[in-house]
Amino acid sequence: MQIIVSKNYIELCNKVANFIVDEIKELSAPLLCFAGGDTPTGVYKNLVKLDQSGRGVFNQANFVGLDEWVGLNDEDSGSCRFTLNRDLYRPLNIKESKIHFFEGKGNDYSKQCEQLNNFIENNGPINLALLGIGVNGHIGFNEPGSSLESVARLVSLDEITQNVGQKYFETEQKLTQGITLGLKQILETGVIILIASGLKKKPIIKELLTNKSFNPSVPVSSLWKHSNCHLFVDEEAFS
Ligand code: F6R
Repeated sequence: MQIIVSKNYIELCNKVANFIVDEIKELSAPLLCFAGGDTPTGVYKNLVKLDQSGRGVFNQANFVGLDEWVGLNDEDSGSCRFTLNRDLYRPLNIKESKIHFFEGKGNDYSKQCEQLNNFIENNGPINLALLGIGVNGHIGFNEPGSSLESVARLVSLDEITQNVGQKYFETEQKLTQGITLGLKQILETGVIILIASGLKKKPIIKELLTNKSFNPSVPVSSLWKHSNCHLFVDEEAFS
């Protein structure tokens, strides 16, 4: 795991956006997976600026969803898809046909997961993924105890995820379940970028960097098994 420490969030977002563009500019039709949540929003602003300045690196890209809250979809402010639509897909003018995402208000989650698993099987592996880290060590909604062999599936969310997740919404939500890509699909991704910012992430980053091997109760530690993973942190999150 390569570790890149930035002075602050602004510098981190700049570095990550440039890194992403450099990684994908030579690929003809990259398959990309970007996290929702708060941490990547500054990266997306920078990616949009870079794209508008003529790089056009996203013209041929396809996007696969990382995760979604069950019960919420693109119409719900605070959902993963809502955030990505607002910050990335819409500003980049990505066509709907290029976005392969979970529908959190669906009723057949196993069918949806099977479809996404087949899509990745046939069009993957994912070339590049940008991931955030939960304070409990989750990546996507791969909660503590997730298997290295896991693929897209419906999961019960950890209590910490249910509580912390309230920060995305104006009114209290029932956040007991999620749909997520699995650790297997994440670990098969060509390039993984993991980002963390702020003091709240310091304990989990310390845990990740102290025990450099896979611990099933800390899903992010599975990334030690990946040979092309880059951790971008700011000074507050870094210990
Ligand atoms: C969201 C996701 C989550 C978040 C993580 C950190 O799509 O996959 O794993 O990346 O919970 O969230 P923030 O960035 O809000 O601290």
